[in-house]
Amino acid sequence: MFSRTTLLHAARRIEYRIRDDLYAKLLTLDQSFFAGERTGDLISRFSNDLTNVRMLVGFGVLNIINSLVLYIAALALMIRLSPTLTLYAVLPFPAMIFVVKRMSASMFRRSKRSQEELARLTSAVEENVSAAPLIKAYCREAAAIGSFREASERYMASNMRVAQLRGFMIPVMAATGALGTLIVLLVGGGKVVSGVLTLGDFVAFNGYLAMLIWPTIMLGWILNLSQRGAASMERLNWILAAVPRVSEPAEPAAVAKLQGEIELCNLVFAYGAETVLRGISLKIARGSRLGIVGPIGAGKSTLVRMLARLHPVEDGMIRIDGIDINRIPITTLRNSIGFVPQEGFLFSRTIAENVTYGREGANNEKMTAAARMAGLHDEVSRFPDGYETLVGERGITLSGGQKQRTSIARALIKDPAILILDDPLSAVDAHTEEEILTNLAGYYGSRTVIIVSHRISALRDCDLIVAIEDGRIVEQGSHVRLLEIDGRYAQLYREQQLLREIESY
Ligand SMILES: Nc1ncnc2c1ncn2[C@@H]1O[C@H](COP(=O)(O)OP(=O)(O)OP(=O)(O)O)[C@@H](O)[C@H]1O
Ligand SMILES: [Mg+2]
Repeated sequence: MFSRTTLLHAARRIEYRIRDDLYAKLLTLDQSFFAGERTGDLISRFSNDLTNVRMLVGFGVLNIINSLVLYIAALALMIRLSPTLTLYAVLPFPAMIFVVKRMSASMFRRSKRSQEELARLTSAVEENVSAAPLIKAYCREAAAIGSFREASERYMASNMRVAQLRGFMIPVMAATGALGTLIVLLVGGGKVVSGVLTLGDFVAFNGYLAMLIWPTIMLGWILNLSQRGAASMERLNWILAAVPRVSEPAEPAAVAKLQGEIELCNLVFAYGAETVLRGISLKIARGSRLGIVGPIGAGKSTLVRMLARLHPVEDGMIRIDGIDINRIPITTLRNSIGFVPQEGFLFSRTIAENVTYGREGANNEKMTAAARMAGLHDEVSRFPDGYETLVGERGITLSGGQKQRTSIARALIKDPAILILDDPLSAVDAHTEEEILTNLAGYYGSRTVIIVSHRISALRDCDLIVAIEDGRIVEQGSHVRLLEIDGRYAQLYREQQLLREIESY
C-alpha cells in the first residue's frame, strides 16, 4: 500500500519533470524545427507518450518489484519442500521467456505503429478544427469526414493488431504455466506414490506453483508496458535531443543595450536545399528608416527574421553596433528589437494582456499611448469591455486589421532600439495605413526602423528603400532616387498610383 502511493507519486513527479523539460526545450528550438513538424504530432508526444512513460515508471516498476518478491518467496518455499521437483517446475520457464521475448519484439513494432497512427489522428483533429470555416466555405465536408475516417480507421486497425497479439500472448503464457503444473503433477505424483514426498507437501508445493502463475502473466503485461514506454521514450528523446541551431554565444560580447546600427555583409540563407537569400549587403545607420519592397516569396520576411536570429546566421554576416550578431547575448538582442511579424499572433487573453505582453508590468498609461500610436485606441474604447475584452476562442474575434494593430502596439510598448514591421498594415486600407504611419513617425525618434511592405505609399518616407527579388537586392536608394532610376520600383509605384486613382473615383 505504502510502496504503491510512493511509487505512483514518484511516477507523476517524473512525468511532470519530463513535461517541463520538453516545453523548455521546445522554446529553444528554431523555426526550421517546427516547420518540419505537425502540431498534432508534438501534442501527441506531450500527452500519450508521456502517459506511457509514466505508466512504465509507475505501475511497471511497482509490479516488477511485487513479482520479484513473490518469485523469491515462492521459489524459496518450493526448494525447501523438494529441490528436484522445483527444477522440474521451472523447466518450462526459459521456453516461456523466449516466447515472451519474441512476442514483445513484435509488440514493440505494433505499439509504435499505433502511436504513430494516433499522432496522425491528433494532427487531423487539430487541422480540421482550425480549418472548419474553410472546409465549409468550399463545401468539402464530405471529403474532410472521409479523410478523417480513414485516419481513424488506420488507428483502429493498428490498435486491433496490438490487441490481437496481446490476446494471443496471455493464453500462450497461461499454457506454459499449465505445462509446469502438468509436469509437477506427473513427477510429484510419482514421488508421492513412492513415498518420497508427503501428500501435504505435494499439495503445498502445487499451491506455491500456482502463486507463480499470476506474476508470470504480470511479467508479460509489464513487458508490454515497457515496450510501449520504450517506444514513447524514444519519441520524447527525439525532442529532448534536438539541438537548437540558434544558441547563446560561447563568448558573449559585453553589451547590455543595442543602439541599432546594422550591417549586413553578403547575407545568405537557405531553408534546407532551397536558397532564399543570395548575398545581401547593406548598411543601416542608427536612427534611419529602411524600407523593403519586393514580390511575394522574395525573402523579405526571412531577412527580417534573421535580424532577430530567429533563423541561424553564419558568423560575419550580420553586425549590430559593430558586434557580430552571434556574439550578442540572445536576450540582449531580442530585448532591443520590437518585432511585428507578418502573421501576427494574439493570445486568447484580453487585449490589454496582449499589448502589455511586449513589456511586463507596463501601466495603463503606457498601454493606451502605444495603442493610440498604433491606431487601435478608438476602436477598443468602443468595445463594451474596452481593453479588458477577451480575444480569441472565448472572446470576440478581432478583424485582421485590429489584430495587426494590436501586434504593432505590443512592439511599440517594448520601447525597442530597433523596430521591425513586416507588412504590418496589409489588412487595413491605404488611407488608414497612411494615418497610422504618420502617427508612428513621431515615435521613431532615434530608433532604427525597418518596414517591409507591398505598398509603396508606406515606404515613401524611408531614408533608404531596397527592392528585393529572388533573394538579391535589385534596386536601392531613396524614393526620389528610385523614381529617377525608373526601374521596377518606379513601375510598381506608377501601377499603385493608378490603382489609387481608380479607387478614389
Ligand atoms: N519556414 C520556412 N521553411 C521553408 N521555406 C520557407 C519558410 N519560410 C519561407 N520559406 C520560403 O522561402 C521563400 C521566401 O519566403 P519569405 O517569407 O521570406 O518571402 P517574403 O518576401 O516575405 O514573401 P511575402 O511578400 O509573401 O511575405 C519562399 O519561397 C518560401 O516558400
Ligand atoms: Mg513575408
